[in-house]
Amino acid sequence: MPSLTGKTALVTGASRGIGRAIAQRLAAEGALVAVHYGTNDAAAKETTDSIERAGGRAVAIRADFETPDAVDVLFQGLATHLPGPLDIVVNNAAIGHSGSLESATEADFDRVFAVNVRAPFFLLQRAVPHMPDGGRVINISSSVTRIAVSHELVYGMTKGALDIMGRTLAYTLGRRGITVNSVAAGVTDTDMIAMLKAIPEAVAGINAATALGRIGEPADIAGIVAFLASDDARWVTGHLVDATGGMSLGLPI
Ligand SMILES: NC(=O)c1ccc[n+]([C@@H]2O[C@H](COP(=O)([O-])OP(=O)(O)OC[C@H]3O[C@@H](n4cnc5c(N)ncnc54)[C@H](OP(=O)(O)O)[C@@H]3O)[C@@H](O)[C@H]2O)c1
Repeated sequence: MPSLTGKTALVTGASRGIGRAIAQRLAAEGALVAVHYGTNDAAAKETTDSIERAGGRAVAIRADFETPDAVDVLFQGLATHLPGPLDIVVNNAAIGHSGSLESATEADFDRVFAVNVRAPFFLLQRAVPHMPDGGRVINISSSVTRIAVSHELVYGMTKGALDIMGRTLAYTLGRRGITVNSVAAGVTDTDMIAMLKAIPEAVAGINAATALGRIGEPADIAGIVAFLASDDARWVTGHLVDATGGMSLGLPI
């Protein structure tokens, strides 16, 4: 029997990229998956269609995290479409932002924090009281909390906040058997890196700085999330998995 049979999972930002791969993988493991997205109805439908074609179960739920009532809207959708509480929450939705100390505006700062930090925080505030013992929270973080990238300062700060939330909640929720872990993705082939991918020298530089010699695929991240969601990972909590293929492990000499 697939490992997540009978479980219900929410994957935020599952219409595209890494979130889509996570939703597909958790559904393949037997979970009923809520495919959350911001605005792209067609992409969300592609995700749910692909899951159903593969024999899985999924529902799409739209809630734009830039709007103040997004978490209410999300939970109205979950209450309408799901039979019970969430066993697994994957906080994946985020916006990248090329904002340095010099270039970021206050509006940019507020927008990125609203989607990347405010939404997952208040989402968990609503979800956790109803989660059964043994639940799973998995936050998708980034290598930019370890590797300084000056033009992604604001984005990196949001991921740092997510990491602190994860470690703290791992401590407070452990007595209920709820594990909370983070997966720090490295450069991964999604729409988020479209501009980078258009520059061959940048891709070559990333490959050279990565021990495994390539850019990551969404499925690389989804496999790690599936493990953390499984019963086999019940003794792992408060952990941050470096999912970069070994990026910047040493000096280029
Ligand atoms: N790709 C990378 O190289 C990389 C590296 C490190 C970490 N990460 C992290 O991995 C996660 C997934 O990234 P990705 O590359 O897969 O991103 P992506 O391809 O750009 O997809 C982003 C997802 O988030 C949703 N989203 C965006 N803005 C939203 C909003 N305002 N409200 C609600 N949902 C919103 C999108 O929904 P719509 O389709 O409706 O817009 C989409 O489903 C993020 O947490 C990101 O920070 C990515």
